[in-house]
Formats: sequence, structure tokens, C-alpha cells
Amino acid sequence: MSLASRPDIISFAGGMPGNDLFPVDEVEELFRSLDERSKRAAFQYGPTPGLPSLLESLGGFLERKGLPVRTNRLMVTTGSQQALSILAKAFIDPGDRVLTEYPCFIGAIAAFRSCGAEIASIPVDEEGIDIAMLREEADRPDPAKFLYVTPYFHNPGGMLYTSERKRQLVEALQGRDIPLIEDDAYGDLWFSEEHLDRLKPIKSSDPDGVDVCYTGSFSKILGPGLRLGWMLAPEAIWEKCELIKQSADACSPSFTQVIADAFIRSGKIDGYIASVRQEYKRRAACMSEALRRHLPAYVRWSEPKGGFYIWLTLPGGADATEILKRAIAGGAVFVTGSTFDPEGSRNNTMRLSYCNNAPEEIERGIPIVADAIRAVCG
Ligand SMILES: Cc1ncc(COP(=O)(O)O)c(C=O)c1O
Repeated sequence: MSLASRPDIISFAGGMPGNDLFPVDEVEELFRSLDERSKRAAFQYGPTPGLPSLLESLGGFLERKGLPVRTNRLMVTTGSQQALSILAKAFIDPGDRVLTEYPCFIGAIAAFRSCGAEIASIPVDEEGIDIAMLREEADRPDPAKFLYVTPYFHNPGGMLYTSERKRQLVEALQGRDIPLIEDDAYGDLWFSEEHLDRLKPIKSSDPDGVDVCYTGSFSKILGPGLRLGWMLAPEAIWEKCELIKQSADACSPSFTQVIADAFIRSGKIDGYIASVRQEYKRRAACMSEALRRHLPAYVRWSEPKGGFYIWLTLPGGADATEILKRAIAGGAVFVTGSTFDPEGSRNNTMRLSYCNNAPEEIERGIPIVADAIRAVCG
């Protein structure tokens, strides 16, 4: 983060929305137009699960995606990071085994570790998690407390699960008493309508025999500074989570809940998401083009279909930390693959994000990264 904010460094490291894209004017106008009662509520404590008005408008927003809001309970959380952290507390006792993907979002690794979990990570490919390995892990005698996955524009992998792989995942969990945490922080940021089918959350069908806890966030579709996310979970799990949240922060910020509620109710959210989608698509295309032009042929990566990231895989013995040192000396940063490895060892991979860079920066920065790769890997 400190390197990433240095003005002389081009940062492909952060998972941050574009600074220039935030709807500053719209939000200012929305707050001004609120009645006195709502403005005062913004300064006040609110109920632990969220302000009723936001629960209603957010519920409508999620229902439009086909999520079963009426047969589950919705909770507003302080970022979806808090949803993960609460779920970790609800499920994990020290020494318990949990299943994640490899690679895995670092915030989830941190949340699960802080509760004393042993993490078994299962590789993902372009279509999703490795089903044979998932079955093997699910069948071990010490039961796993849950499986955590990010099927929609994975962080850091960028991939989008196929519908078939999600079906197989559900089948592998059914009847094994392993709940699923489905993290959908990036699903709204798709680049092509052809992928809409693959974006249907597993939670939307609430499959028999698997408790699915679905998490999402305003961070990438409004702004992470609001610190607002959500969790949609079966009643019994939700109740436990409400108690945990009560002791964590009493309630999420009322101020930003009032704003998020007004943003949804005004209808501005749909137009805003559509506009940032277009911009991230442009940035992704620019980075893809630069990578095609500059990277050596031995680096493997995939064209992004949405979200913020491109994941590079280098030859087996390559060390991304060495590449990072060279890249910093040249004036660019990225995140090394071992950061996203629950075992902290596999490091022949690197994450590049295009979300917070203008195309000119991408065009200047990628040759620096490519030179650093060549200097280390030949
Ligand atoms: C996959 C994933 N889940 C959850 C989060 C947490 O986001 P927030 O707490 O801002 O909602 C992030 C943030 O980058 C993420 O990448």
C-alpha cells in the first residue's frame, strides 16, 4: 500500500476502484435531497442487522438478481470483509479445518486464520475449483467447517466459474454437512452479456442439503469508503451472526447506509454500475493488449471477463518476489502470488490489477513489469 501510493510508482497492486470514477456529485445531491428525519438518522446508531429502509431497498436489488431474500435473512455488514469475519467466528473453533480455493482472497485467509482455522486450499482452473480434490477434502474424516469460494471474477485469479462447475461443486457438498460461503464482491462488473448465465449465484437456487451463505459489497459498485457489505444466510446461521456483529460494532455506519439506500432508491445505482463496467472493460482491454505486446510467450494468463484482475502464471521455479524487486526499481508494483497462497509458498504467479489506472499508465507500466520478468526468468 505504501509503495502503491508513491507518485513515482505505477501501481497494479491495489484492488481499489478507480479514484476518478466515484459518483461524488450524485451522492452530494442525494444527501442534500433527503428529508430532515433521514439526515438525522444518518448520525444516529441503527439496528445491528442494518437500517430497515436499506434492508428493504437492498433486498429488492438482490431479488432482481434472483436471490432468495424472502426465505433467508439479510444483514448489512461493515464491508463484506466483516461478513467473512463474522462467518469465520460463527463456524470456526481453533484447529478446525476449512476449505478454500488456491489462490484465495487474502482478507478471507486472514479472517479464517484469526479464528485458528487450518486451511486446506484446493486449486482453481479457468472453469472453477478442482472437483476431484474438493471431493477428496470433503470426504476426510475430520469434517471441514465450510467451503469458501469466489466464483465471479475471482480475486486474485480473475476467473468466472462455469455453470457446470458450480453444479458439480454443489453436488460434491450435498449431504456432507459442509456449508458454502459464496463471495460475490465483483459479480456486477461483467464485460459481456454473454456471461450473464454464468453469473447466476449458487445461492439463487438455494440447493437442497447445502447451507449457502452469500456475501456481497457496495465497495466495488459505489465505494469502499462507505464500508458496507451484506450477508444473505439461512435463519439459524443469521441469528448467530447477529450476536457476533452486536459485539463487534453494534451497527454498520448509519451515515453510509442512508446514502446507499438513497442511491438504490433513486435508481442511480443501475446507471452507475453500467458506466463503471464500461470503464473497467476499457482498462482491461488496454492491459490485455499491452500484455500481448510485451510479455514473453512463456507467461500464461487469461483475458478478463469482468472484475479487476489479471493473474499471470510463470514457469515452475520462478520467484515473483525477485520480479517485484526489479519492477519496483523500474517504477511499477504488483502483488506476488504467494500473498494469495494459504500455505504462503507457491510464488510463480502474480496479480496485476487494471482497475485504478488510466490507459496511458497501463501502457507505461506493463513494459516495466515485462522487463522485470525477462530479467529474472530469461
Ligand atoms: C473477493 C473479495 N471479497 C471481499 C472483499 C472485501 O471487500 P469489502 O470489505 O470492501 O466489502 C474483497 C475486497 O477486495 C474481495 O476482493
